[in-house]
Amino acid sequence: MAFLWITVLFWAYVSRCCGQPLSPENTWAVLVAGSSGYGNYRHQADICHAYQIMKKHGISEDHLIVMATDDIAHNSLNPFPGQVFNRPGNQNATDVYAGCKIDYKGHEVTPDTFTKVLTGVQDGTTNGKKVLKSDSTSRVFVNFVDHGGVGIIGFPSTTMHVADLTKTLDTMQQKKTYGELLFYLEACESGSMFPNLSSTSKIYAVTAANGKESSWGYYCMPQDVVKGKHIGSCLGDLFSISWMEDADLNQPMETIAQQVEKVTKRTNKSHVTTFGDTSFTNEPIAHFDELKMIDHSGVVSEIEPLPEDGIISAQDIPLAMAQYKYLMASPGLEKDFAKWHLETVKENRKEDHGLFHAITDKACEKSDQNFNCTSKLQTIQMDLKDLLCHKALASIIEKECLPHNHGDDYQVGGWNAFSWKFSQWLVNICESQDSLNADVDAFKRIVSGACTDANAAKMAKARAETVQFI
Ligand SMILES: *[C@@H]1O[C@H](CO)[C@@H](O)[C@H](O)[C@H]1NC(C)=O
Ligand SMILES: *[C@@H]1O[C@H](CO)[C@@H](O)[C@H](O)[C@H]1NC(C)=O
Ligand SMILES: *[C@@H]1O[C@H](CO)[C@@H](O)[C@H](O)[C@H]1NC(C)=O
Ligand SMILES: *[C@@H]1O[C@H](CO)[C@@H](O)[C@H](O)[C@H]1NC(C)=O
Repeated sequence: MAFLWITVLFWAYVSRCCGQPLSPENTWAVLVAGSSGYGNYRHQADICHAYQIMKKHGISEDHLIVMATDDIAHNSLNPFPGQVFNRPGNQNATDVYAGCKIDYKGHEVTPDTFTKVLTGVQDGTTNGKKVLKSDSTSRVFVNFVDHGGVGIIGFPSTTMHVADLTKTLDTMQQKKTYGELLFYLEACESGSMFPNLSSTSKIYAVTAANGKESSWGYYCMPQDVVKGKHIGSCLGDLFSISWMEDADLNQPMETIAQQVEKVTKRTNKSHVTTFGDTSFTNEPIAHFDELKMIDHSGVVSEIEPLPEDGIISAQDIPLAMAQYKYLMASPGLEKDFAKWHLETVKENRKEDHGLFHAITDKACEKSDQNFNCTSKLQTIQMDLKDLLCHKALASIIEKECLPHNHGDDYQVGGWNAFSWKFSQWLVNICESQDSLNADVDAFKRIVSGACTDANAAKMAKARAETVQFI
């Protein structure tokens, strides 16, 4: 009861002081896992766990919008068909897939759909499915989980550039589709995605990492054990697990700022970073997930901290998984296959490295003598300003470079879990035009040429391997 009264007093206060009151019944959530493939089990596990929290705390189903490829629960690699877990456990482990209603699946999980869901556009893309119907009295919670690089976040078959995410948030602001918007983003270099969010935007964004570092998988091998079986993939991500296991504790009076402080402490492999408008961070987080003061005595957390192993940089998870499978494989065919797979992953990393080395080498050909060019382009971390240049180069990597054949990881053209980190090198090129004595068109030709060369080498290698097998 106390909580309800405080809520009522709070609304009375808000409506007196700041104009239009927000309506507690008008809370919405958009939850997105941007990846596909069993190697990214953790992203969809995170998002279904978020769904369970929103649902349990009282957001109605028609205000909850979920996007996820949905290729995990029924994946042939899943030892528990039809179930997904976001935390190791015994017989009592919670299946977060049970009741997790996914609105947009498979090929529907695109930046275009995401944008239309957020801006409330009903058309052929959203196809009669749920989109935000929120207004200026609404609270909107957005949670996105996937891979990313400087200025980009991943979707199963394409990427979304920071220029487009910024435009989408601007449109939401113009259309007044929220009173307050809380955005939790988990991805590598996620701190590069909200560069100009204003302190009066009524948008508060919290990212798993700053703009220059990896985010981290959690409950990875060998901590990936549920009911005595290894899941064979990380179960969650460190930042996502940190906020959700905090939310699972059902603390109705905890404020957004308090949650962010706890999450920042627990996410100690990267720097949780915040952007935008802090004017509402002293509100209870419960206003965003609608946690009601109902009897939670039966569900108050059974969570105990697990050992801190099983934390892996998101960029290295495919390699770590391959190494782990090799270690665990029984001698004979299984070991041979695991060894081949591990060698392939290492080889692919080398190829990715080679591709971006070729690009920086070429970009440096006309550079100023004293610029120390390749070393600079490969090590410094410049801020992304020239959006058009970076978007153009990133899109050539996506559209013109062939993906590797990586088994259980997903690829967006030349981008993959490992290579996304080289997005920073493209930023450095775009921001160094003067010292490189070249322009964007020249850079485009360089990147395009490097893709052509890498593709030709890949095809030649594939042919040679085929001949070997015959
Ligand atoms: C599962 O939960 C029940 C009820 O809380 C408890 O009695 C039981 O010991 C738990 N089982 C395991 C294996 O922890
Ligand atoms: C991160 O936190 C864990 C416990 O939450 C602790 O064991 C570990 O030493 C911390 N790591 C660093 C780098 O501070
Ligand atoms: C070039 O950069 C590298 C690495 O940053 C540094 O070790 C080296 O001393 C630099 N060389 C010159 C000539 O500045
Ligand atoms: C942010 O502002 C800077 C400075 O005005 C600009 O160069 C940059 O392109 C902007 N970024 C986005 C994503 O709008």
